[in-house]
Amino acid sequence: MMKQLLLIVASLAFACGTAAADPAAPASEAAPAGPTNQRQPSLSDPEKSPSALLPKSEVTGKTPIEVVTAAPLATINNPYTGQPDKIEAGKAVFQGMGCPGCHGGNGGGGMCPPLTNETWVYGSDDDTLFRLITLGSDGLQKNGFIRIGMENIVGPMPAFGALIQSDEQLYELLAYLRTLYRGSAKRVNW
Ligand code: HEC
Repeated sequence: MMKQLLLIVASLAFACGTAAADPAAPASEAAPAGPTNQRQPSLSDPEKSPSALLPKSEVTGKTPIEVVTAAPLATINNPYTGQPDKIEAGKAVFQGMGCPGCHGGNGGGGMCPPLTNETWVYGSDDDTLFRLITLGSDGLQKNGFIRIGMENIVGPMPAFGALIQSDEQLYELLAYLRTLYRGSAKRVNW
């Protein structure tokens, strides 16, 4: 596990040092969202966010890879959002997994996209971020996700599914990520 972590950190400069955009990626946020990016916040009617209407996911203790394999798209919904003890635990996961190496200590970006703003590369909902962190960019794209928002790109996000022990740990991590957000409340769909 330590070795894998070191490899990921070593790939950091690769992933985010270059400014070249992927020419195959859609040019702007106006690109239509594909079917797997269906939980984008609606600008015209943010109240209609499907996240609020979905049932919260059950914590199973299974690995993140098992969870993304079993859960139908757009159904993963973090049960821990807003819970102080889970947020605290998630902060430790964030730091322990080396996320700050690429995203900055407070998620404000560094060489990689900030986790604090309103631009979300594949979508902002829990289902998308759970899958992105588990599968990485390449794995996510293999599942049909496309880049719908452009940060100053960069490269792929590595897959953490084999490093994060359980869905519980990833829900904690996501609960912490949500506290880093500094964008408009109207764009919140989690
Ligand atoms: C090697 C550098 C690297 C590490 C380490 C890393 N990321 Fe990323 N992350 C990226 C890159 C690059 C992207 C953009 C992916 C893309 O455009 O396909 C990204 C995207 C993201 C996004 C989506 C951001 C957005 O604006 O849409 C989230 C959330 C995220 N990472 C969370 C994490 C978490 C949590 C960790 C630790 C478990 C982590 N990252 C570790 C490089 C990294």
